[in-house]
Amino acid sequence: MSHFYLQDGVLCAEQLPLTSIAAQFGTPTYVYSKAALLENFSAYTRACAGRDALVCYAMKANSNLAVLKLLAQHGAGFDLVSGGELLRVIAAGGDPKKCLFSGVGKSADEMRLALQHEILCFNVESVQELHRLNQVAGEMGRTAPVSLRVNPNVDAKTHPYISTGLKESKFGVAYDEALATYRTADSLPHLTVVGIDCHIGSQLLEETPLLEALDKLIELIDALAAEGIAIHHLDIGGGLGITYDDEQPVAVGSYLAQLFARIDQWRAAKHGGAPIKVLFEPGRSIVGNAGILLTRIEYLKHGETKNFAVVDAAMNDLMRPAMYEAWHGVQPVVARPTATQTYDVVGPVCESGDWLARQRDLAIEPGDLLAIMSAGAYGMTMASNYNTRGRAAEVMVDGALPHLIRKRENPADLFALESPLPGL
Ligand code: LLP
Repeated sequence: MSHFYLQDGVLCAEQLPLTSIAAQFGTPTYVYSKAALLENFSAYTRACAGRDALVCYAMKANSNLAVLKLLAQHGAGFDLVSGGELLRVIAAGGDPKKCLFSGVGKSADEMRLALQHEILCFNVESVQELHRLNQVAGEMGRTAPVSLRVNPNVDAKTHPYISTGLKESKFGVAYDEALATYRTADSLPHLTVVGIDCHIGSQLLEETPLLEALDKLIELIDALAAEGIAIHHLDIGGGLGITYDDEQPVAVGSYLAQLFARIDQWRAAKHGGAPIKVLFEPGRSIVGNAGILLTRIEYLKHGETKNFAVVDAAMNDLMRPAMYEAWHGVQPVVARPTATQTYDVVGPVCESGDWLARQRDLAIEPGDLLAIMSAGAYGMTMASNYNTRGRAAEVMVDGALPHLIRKRENPADLFALESPLPGL
């Protein structure tokens, strides 16, 4: 069930009309539904009930402290990709011991920070990184828990920019080199091998590539066991897609049931039924459909060949259309009974690529509010200050109550860290 729905011709977030959010907080504003977030998260926890499993929310999708705190309180761990993200988890009261650290470019400082906070595991992406981590851990008198991000070379069948499991990808260790890399990891004195992981891509609409990747990881775990290298957890990454338009995403429960069935079958056959901990790193499927971007129409501009609805949100607020030609639904907040016209919905930024939606049939007038749908994931976290535009406010709705969870930035915030040359 969507928590954004029309009631008496007005689009609401839970029980609150979006018109009242615009009146109170202005536009552009990201609006999230607390109930939607928790519902999406609990689809994972329900499917993991009674299992040794941990859902490490991929916070790059949406890292607002309110989102993190809510998920942490419901038992989430976190998948992070920078020291900054770890500091966010800590600020939100999340548990670093439930954190995975992914990413191809971890700095020594970031490793130190993560070791100080005793994170669950480093998802290591290269042999060079193993050596650096071993050195940093040694200097600190620590042992770093590691997993190798293995590139299973399966085609995730998604947009090339968000497909990460193919041979040519910068991510992970090549499948054929995984055994040798594990041997290196095992031989380094300040590392302990604890797991194996992969992440093959994002916005996946079929479970087959994920289950193929699982099979590849299983093969490797068996090969490692034969060499005396024990793997205690298996991390299958994130990647489940959501509905932006008319996509039919895989249901979380059904995907996890298939995955656990496969794992149980393998454990029973090969490891005497001994369980293995299973980790997940979902991002988009937790937050994507739990948020919208609320924007107001500044002008309707009727060009020679096209009509434009110029709105107050832009590519700096929601990068996805400009960057991936991503499709987001556009819904007027207050429906008009008049005839529609076809519009491109564009922002005020000085780039032709600054569009949010193209060729949409809308019955709209200047001053109307529009909701850009399914904008909860990779929306605010990818926002920039291009054109010295302050980033949007963020509001989380709980029932009929709006909570401002991030204030709108003002221009003075944006140049506060800058200083002119001395003497000028
Ligand atoms: N784990 C790792 C190692 C990842 O790199 C990602 C996403 C995730 C988990 C979470 O994947 P999800 O469950 O959200 O599919 N900005 C792009 C998406 C980039 C995804 C990057 N990695 C977009 O807006 O579509």
